[in-house]
Amino acid sequence: MGYFRENIEKAKGYEPGIQPAAAGVVKLNTNENPYPPSPEVIKAIVETSAEQLRRYPDPRGGAFRRAAADLNGVEPEWIICCNGGDDLLRMAFSAFCDKKRACAYPVPTYSLYPALAKVQNCRVIEVPFDDEFNLPARLAQTKAALTIVCNPNAPSGTFIAAGELASLADELKGVLLIDEAYVDFAEADCAGLVRDFDNVVVLRSMSKGYSLAGLRFGYAIARPEMIEGLMKVKDSYNVDAIAIAAATAAIRDQNYFRTNVNKVKAERGRLSEELRKLGFDVAKSCANFVLAKCRSCKAKDVYDKLIQRNIYVRFFDKPGLNDKLRITVGTKGQDDKLLDVLKEILS
Ligand SMILES: Cc1ncc(COP(=O)(O)O)c(C=O)c1O
Repeated sequence: MGYFRENIEKAKGYEPGIQPAAAGVVKLNTNENPYPPSPEVIKAIVETSAEQLRRYPDPRGGAFRRAAADLNGVEPEWIICCNGGDDLLRMAFSAFCDKKRACAYPVPTYSLYPALAKVQNCRVIEVPFDDEFNLPARLAQTKAALTIVCNPNAPSGTFIAAGELASLADELKGVLLIDEAYVDFAEADCAGLVRDFDNVVVLRSMSKGYSLAGLRFGYAIARPEMIEGLMKVKDSYNVDAIAIAAATAAIRDQNYFRTNVNKVKAERGRLSEELRKLGFDVAKSCANFVLAKCRSCKAKDVYDKLIQRNIYVRFFDKPGLNDKLRITVGTKGQDDKLLDVLKEILS
């Protein structure tokens, strides 16, 4: 017998996007925001006192809960803080799934879900999207304890209307977790569903719209009874004192946030249009990335050639995705570099 549980021994583990250490690379592979966080964030970090570091942090991140509650029009009891959205996903698997309690989600989607299911040793029911990434009707019939819908979906960037997810929540016996990591770049969100359904959890990330991927902070919105259940499976101090102060400053600075998000959205439109001119099919995206399908090129070849030129995008060697590249929306300068090199590669 080995040291590890059998399912861990067999697991491949999650494969994060490359984080190149070299300077001067154009990094469009892990959907970070190309702009820095609010100056208020840096101020909050610098102003964190030695005394705050000496003591354990607030285990529930009260200051952030209040700020997120104000923003979402709920009470702080409806909010749970997490060490990045991935932490909340791990909590959800731990709280809802085991050998007898399956997890379901439409595919293709965020590749962390199956990795977490493996660790929890729960059965996974993957229900394929159609070509337009419509919500598969079969998702309501899986009897899973946890159903996850990533909305906007990664890596397609497509969005499912709140009404459709309300019908799904109504039909499901288990929990519906709506992963809104990219919702800051969409025109609508599904947070309102938590008022009508006690089985809905809405997950948010501070990594994308708020430019805090390095800080590790996110939160979820749900009914207080659901939040209390999730509190039982979180690490005792899952968010640290600096992170609570910084994330609170970020979410309180809505003017800065909105300005940046609007810049990314405008650049997303331009990048999509320029990629179409180069011969890619690019569907409308509601996220901070686009999924570009090579019409007459091999996606993997283009991906490899871009890396040789220090440009990183994401390629997934999976059915339905291996003819496409997922490209994070960068600054105009970064995107122009990508477009220039693509022109060369494709000519
Ligand atoms: C779909 C999706 N959900 C959740 C996350 C988690 O983000 P974080 O842990 O940085 O908040 C990511 C990160 O890329 C993501 O793509």
